Amino acid sequence: MISKEMTKRLNQQITLEMYSSNIYLAMSGWCAYNGLNGSASFLKNHSKEELSHAYKLFDYISETGGLAEVDTIEKPNNSFKSLHEVFEATYKHELIVSKSIFELVDFALNEKDYSTFNFLQWYISEQHEEEKLFKEILDKFEIIKTDGRGLFMIDREIGQLAN
Ligand code: FEO
Repeated sequence: MISKEMTKRLNQQITLEMYSSNIYLAMSGWCAYNGLNGSASFLKNHSKEELSHAYKLFDYISETGGLAEVDTIEKPNNSFKSLHEVFEATYKHELIVSKSIFELVDFALNEKDYSTFNFLQWYISEQHEEEKLFKEILDKFEIIKTDGRGLFMIDREIGQLAN
């Protein structure tokens, strides 16, 4: 059994993960509209991953006897100036998600809720991987640049990460 406050905080994390999923789906739509099909495919896959993060929390709350809840999801941004701006936003967003996970971990430890503390370890590793992934993509923009054929190359490279 987890505390009411822990349940509330985990439910808020579900909302954040679902918002993340919508952010990446909206980005995927923008990329597809602009002919950036590699990035569109990568971001759509990532949107699905974010939903799985939400479901994992949802199941954990249910399994521990809490009420898993679904809340309003804020509207994501659907319009961007460039592909670079899209991926700058992904990286910034993942830093926000990591901060939120760390706060949950802190709270679980303070409450001596070792079950939730243990459950959250998966999210710590996942955030490490995601920050690394999006940082690597951002680095590609520095190396390849997006003028001329650069944008085509970068989109193809990002598309390969979707597989
Ligand atoms: Fe579920 Fe990308 O954080």
